[in-house]
Amino acid sequence: MSVAAIIVAAGSGIRAGGALPKQFTTVAGLPMVAHSYRVLRAHPAIAEIVIVVGEGQDALARTATGEARLSLGGATRRESVRNGLAALTNRPARVLVHDAARPFVPAAVVDRLLFALDTHDGAVPVLAVADTLVSADGETVDRAPLRRVQTPQAFRRDELLAAHAAWSGPEPTDDAQMVRALGGSVALVQGDPMLDKVTYPEDFAIAEARAQAFGTWEWRSATGFDVHRLAAGEELWLGGVLIPHDRGLSGHSDADVALHALTDALLGTIAAGDIGTHFPPSDPQWKGAASHRFLTHAAGLIAARGGQVSFVDLTLICEAPKIGPHRAAMQARIAELLRLTPDRVSVKATTTEQLGFTGRGEGIAAQASATVRLPAGAPR
Ligand code: CTP
Ligand code: MG
Repeated sequence: MSVAAIIVAAGSGIRAGGALPKQFTTVAGLPMVAHSYRVLRAHPAIAEIVIVVGEGQDALARTATGEARLSLGGATRRESVRNGLAALTNRPARVLVHDAARPFVPAAVVDRLLFALDTHDGAVPVLAVADTLVSADGETVDRAPLRRVQTPQAFRRDELLAAHAAWSGPEPTDDAQMVRALGGSVALVQGDPMLDKVTYPEDFAIAEARAQAFGTWEWRSATGFDVHRLAAGEELWLGGVLIPHDRGLSGHSDADVALHALTDALLGTIAAGDIGTHFPPSDPQWKGAASHRFLTHAAGLIAARGGQVSFVDLTLICEAPKIGPHRAAMQARIAELLRLTPDRVSVKATTTEQLGFTGRGEGIAAQASATVRLPAGAPR
């Protein structure tokens, strides 16, 4: 039994306000619509997905979802769903209809809905009402028989098409009420607070918090290592700070070994090669280059994936100069370059007890680690 999904994302988001319609506003590093698209696309039962977008919003939807199939929405949610149904090409037996404004879709809810379709024409996720209810004139309303209705909603496609064709009532807020009006049976399955809709401006903060619980972020860590030779007549740049010393580090760029190790750690978190991949030493334009450009380039690549650097840790390995007096300046500079608070930048130093090349003062080594969070399943 083939299953298709329609994500309606053609609303104007009037109640949410904001410069962009809410479904394209960034939540947890991704445009909101991308979250539900990603989960539905990954669901093994769903063969086809159409996202219904408003006039002129194709580019926003493309940026959000990459290769998704788009359809043009209508003036109401009902019309948008109808257009999405018309755009399905594979004559699926079953259709899920979902609001883009509900970014976090637990796969288990989709499973419950699809199972319920074995015995019903439709199925919707619902939650009991927790608060006491009163009418606007102060009459207590018995909450026991009431349920809050969410999406995705699942239907046998023929029943849903018939319900849309037959509808003549006032503008419905979901599809299940149209199917019921035509006599169809609609099962109520257990919903999930994750599915609550973003409707008002304050709902964005709730959605961000919900994203953490939903596991939308993928955490990654990676390491970097670098060595440069100490030579007379060179400036000593370490951790983005110019340090007075009798010798400096030599290399193609300014040879800031600390920033190079950090850059490689950042590139490692997105498996984007190493500093030499992006800034080949053979390329004359990087001769004498300030290494902060390498670091911010790597941070920019992470940001472009919707990621965030959470923490970096740096260890400098040398006998001299003493790092202690410069530690705070390095921490502040690296934090500035990565747009982090300094408490997210750790700078440490050690000697090698006068052993090896660092012990003999022939060069300085640095190792670094970086921890970043990336939107799980984001288009790479
Ligand atoms: N929707 C749609 N086409 C419409 C109206 C709404 O596709 N003409 C979609 C919205 O994009 C949203 C879902 O239906 O994903 C639920 O609607 P709602 O929360 O009301 O969103 P908006 O209509 O955009 O918001 P508002 O009513 O505050 O303007
Ligand atoms: Mg609306």
